[in-house]
Amino acid sequence: MRRLRMGMIGGGPGAFIGPVHRFAAELDREIELVAGVFSSDADRSRAAADQYLIDPSRAYGDLAKMLQAEKARPDGIDFVSVVTPNHNHLPSARAALEAGFPVISDKPMTATLAEAQELAGVVKAAGLPFGLTYTYTGYPLVREMKARIAAGALGSLRKVVVEYPQGWLSQPAEGKQAEWRVDPERAGAGGCIGDIGVHAFNLAEFVTGEKVTRLFADLAAVVPGRLLDDDCSVLLRFANGARGVLLASQIEVGELNGLRIRCYGDKGGMSWKQEEPNSFTFHHLDGRTEIIRAGDASLGELATSRTRTPGGHPEGYLEAFANIYRDFAAVLRGEDASCLPRLDEGLRSMAFIDTAVRASAAEAGWVDLTV
Ligand SMILES: NC(=O)c1ccc[n+]([C@@H]2O[C@H](COP(=O)([O-])OP(=O)(O)OC[C@H]3O[C@@H](n4cnc5c(N)ncnc54)[C@H](O)[C@@H]3O)[C@@H](O)[C@H]2O)c1
Repeated sequence: MRRLRMGMIGGGPGAFIGPVHRFAAELDREIELVAGVFSSDADRSRAAADQYLIDPSRAYGDLAKMLQAEKARPDGIDFVSVVTPNHNHLPSARAALEAGFPVISDKPMTATLAEAQELAGVVKAAGLPFGLTYTYTGYPLVREMKARIAAGALGSLRKVVVEYPQGWLSQPAEGKQAEWRVDPERAGAGGCIGDIGVHAFNLAEFVTGEKVTRLFADLAAVVPGRLLDDDCSVLLRFANGARGVLLASQIEVGELNGLRIRCYGDKGGMSWKQEEPNSFTFHHLDGRTEIIRAGDASLGELATSRTRTPGGHPEGYLEAFANIYRDFAAVLRGEDASCLPRLDEGLRSMAFIDTAVRASAAEAGWVDLTV
């Protein structure tokens, strides 16, 4: 087995998620970052290569050049990781796939649903692996909840409450991460709903194994002058009849990254918080509350195969992110990785954003979610 070589697009100086992708990809030593178009500015791209300690001659200022040059090298990249703002996901992923490189992209899949449908066509035509970094699906205990719910631990699912509060956009936006997120040209159709609401949606479907079929969305741009939503309340109806509530907000002052999910069935309830990711609670009908902790002997294969330290030695965000890269590496090697978010999850998430934005603007009440 040799290490897979990654080329990154995005992740230049001052970027948020590019360095996280680098740590995550390299954690298990199955992948190495060797090249990139870290910025559309060639000098800034080289400056990033310096920070990442990679050969500066493999820091490109243009994606077409990277794909061509890396293809010609015997030690060229094996795949491309897309970590730019949303409007650049489609052109980057398309160029890479058409040049013959598998792609792992950050979410949302693209800026709009129409772009996602276009990209789905490109992925199918290329016949190459395509993965999405829905980070929170990488936590071992989220996978354990998924496995237990699938095995019937909650009985028949009745209610899902998923909330994702943040407060960092409670004032007019300033700074590199903020400015493109409030710009419809670069963020796409959704603001908060596309930035974090989509994580909550994906997590709810991932954990429960149930698909959302209808929704009732109320999205608001609370900060005066903002063009995209920053506060979202969405009621959900799942295919099995279960009800759900999805709350996502970036104006809840003081909240950091408070993603939390609670699922209730006719036999019990489960609850997990991203800011304390090493345990979840399991409420039984007889009143007992069990705390399931990382490292417990009772955990199943989905969790144990993606846990690196013994119980009591906490893992977190980077390790969860690394699990998605580990899954992607497995797929590149032709192995199975059932938890890796792919095209279907990407299309469903983009349909969720699009439907919520349009239904809210039209005050349409309950609408179908179709993909
Ligand atoms: N999975 C997660 O939990 C998570 C968290 C944060 C961000 N994201 C996603 O990651 C993406 C980037 O977000 P961010 O917060 O890191 O943004 P950012 O603004 O911090 O960084 C974006 C980087 O992309 C570079 N870039 C922009 N256009 C480029 C181009 N044409 N060619 C090369 N580089 C280019 C910028 O120079 C910058 O370095 C977004 O799609 C966002 O939704 C995902």
